[in-house]
Amino acid sequence: MDFKSKIRVVEDFPKAGISFKDITTLLADGQAYAQAIDACIKMLEGVEYDVIVGPEARGFLLGAPMSVLTKKGFVPIRKPGKLPYETIKHQYELEYGVDTLEVHKDAIKAGDRVLIVDDLLATGGTAKAACELIEKLGGEVVGLAFLMELEFLNGREKLEGYEVFSVIPFE
Ligand code: PRP
Repeated sequence: MDFKSKIRVVEDFPKAGISFKDITTLLADGQAYAQAIDACIKMLEGVEYDVIVGPEARGFLLGAPMSVLTKKGFVPIRKPGKLPYETIKHQYELEYGVDTLEVHKDAIKAGDRVLIVDDLLATGGTAKAACELIEKLGGEVVGLAFLMELEFLNGREKLEGYEVFSVIPFE
């Protein structure tokens, strides 16, 4: 399937100069969504993982269906103040300012082999923060899987040393 044709590109969102990759059009097409999930699972053949971790919010849309199909657990990483139980936090730098992500402190057990899943690899800041959280809990990040990758932002450089997979490259 030509997944790229299912993604709507919205110019100047959320600000001027940004060419936003809108996956809502792909998600609304049941065949395309199912095939995108299958493609994500397939590209990970040979990677052994115990649990899938997905960052809020679009990471849930990819990670959760992959969890159901592979019968691996799903662990959400969330923006601050959303998780009810005790959490650990990781703060990371944005172009302007900082952001924080949280995970429940008992969500990952020492030695768990973790696959991180998100819709998009852009600068890699979110994915790197997710790696830090998992490693703080003693988990091992065995791979990072993205539906889309904005290659021109060089997110892979920030993720050096990790196995990075993506289905749809944007040059
Ligand atoms: C988007 C996207 C990734 C992240 C990628 O999420 O879903 O999580 O940005 O960018 P990066 O590689 O530069 O970190 P966003 O923070 O917009 O949150 P949302 O999914 O809740 O909309």
